[in-house]
Amino acid sequence: MKALVCETYGSVDDLVYRDMPDPEPGPEEVLVAVKAIGVNFPDGLLVEGKYQARPECPFVPGSEISGEVISLGLGVDQFAMGDRILSLTTSFGAYAEKIVLPVGVIHKIPKSMSYETGAALLAATGTAHHGLRQRGQLKASETLLVLGAAGGTGLAAVQIGKAIGAKVIAACSTEEKLAFAKSQGADEGINYVKQDLKQAIKELTNGLGVDVVYDPVGGDAFDVCSRSMAWNGRLLVVGFASGRIPELPINLTLVKGYSVLGVFWGTFTVKQPDEHAANMRELFQWFEEGKVVPVVDAEFALADGIQAIKYVTGRNVMGKVIIKP
Ligand SMILES: NC(=O)c1ccc[n+]([C@@H]2O[C@H](COP(=O)([O-])OP(=O)(O)OC[C@H]3O[C@@H](n4cnc5c(N)ncnc54)[C@H](OP(=O)(O)O)[C@@H]3O)[C@@H](O)[C@H]2O)c1
Repeated sequence: MKALVCETYGSVDDLVYRDMPDPEPGPEEVLVAVKAIGVNFPDGLLVEGKYQARPECPFVPGSEISGEVISLGLGVDQFAMGDRILSLTTSFGAYAEKIVLPVGVIHKIPKSMSYETGAALLAATGTAHHGLRQRGQLKASETLLVLGAAGGTGLAAVQIGKAIGAKVIAACSTEEKLAFAKSQGADEGINYVKQDLKQAIKELTNGLGVDVVYDPVGGDAFDVCSRSMAWNGRLLVVGFASGRIPELPINLTLVKGYSVLGVFWGTFTVKQPDEHAANMRELFQWFEEGKVVPVVDAEFALADGIQAIKYVTGRNVMGKVIIKP
C-alpha cells in the first residue's frame, strides 16, 4: 500500500509518499480500506516534533479516517466485511491506503453519510461537542463566543452551539470567514483583526460578557476573552492555533466569577468511553436532522498530503480538509 511517511522530525515538506507493507489485523482488530482522511491542525505539529506525542520515526501521521472493513481479525463479531465506518486511529497511521484498527474505537456510519463527511465529522466535531456539552455545559439561554469560527473545530462549535439553541457569536480574521460562519448558523460576527474584540463583545452582550467562550486560537484573543467573561461564565481552552499559549492572571477568575476549563477530546474518548459513545449517537442524530453537517472545504490526493497539511496550518481552511487515497 501507499502511505505518507515521516522519516525524521522536521518540515512537513520532508514527508515521503512511498510503499509500505499491507498491515494485517490481529485478534479483535479489523483491516480497513481508507476512503477519506480528516486533516487536522495537529498533524503538522506532530511531523515538526511540536506535538505532545512523539512517535518513533519512521511513522505515518494522521488520526481520523473513514473507510470500508475489508478483513476481520480473530474474534471479531461486531463488524462484517463491507461495513462503512469512521474511526480515530489509536497511534496515528491515517495517511495511508489501509489501516488496522481495534474494534473498540470504530463507529459504523449512517447510510446517508458519505465517506468524505464521515472523515470530516470526528475529531473537530467531537471536540466541539465534548467541549460544549461535558465541559462548558452550554444552555439554550446562553451566549457562546467561538474564536477561529470558520476553522475545523470552530465551525463545528458554531453548528453545535446552534443545535443546543444558544446565541452564537463567531470571531474570525476575515470578512469571507465571517460570512461563512454566519452561513453556518452564527447569529453575530466579530472580525477580530479589524474590530476591537473587547468592545465588540461588550456591545453584543449588552455589557454582560460572554457565558461560554470556545477558544482553539489562544494568544491575544484569549487575553481579551479572559477579561470579557460573564458572571458564572466558562472559558474553554481548546488549542493554540495562533502559536502562543497564553498566561492567565488568575485573579480575573475570582473578580469575574468564571471558570477556565481544559478540553482534551482524545483523552476523553479513552477515559469516558460511555459518554463518548453517547456523544457520537447525538452527533449522528444531529447530522440526520441537518443540524451538524461538516463542510468539506478542499479535497487532496494522498500523494498531495503535504499540500493538504499546509492548507490547514496556513490559516486558509473554512471547514475541513480531507485527503482521498
Ligand atoms: N483540545 C482538543 O481536544 C483539540 C482537538 C482538535 C483540535 N484542537 C486544537 O484546536 C486548534 C484548531 O484546530 P482546527 O483543526 O480547528 O484548526 P483550523 O481548522 O486550522 O482552525 C484554526 C483557526 O485558528 C485561527 N488562527 C488564528 N491564528 C492562526 C495562525 N497563526 N495560524 C493558523 N490559524 C490561526 C484561524 O482562524 P482565523 O483566521 O479566523 O483567526 C483558523 O481558522 C489547534 O490548535 C488544534 O491543535 C484541540
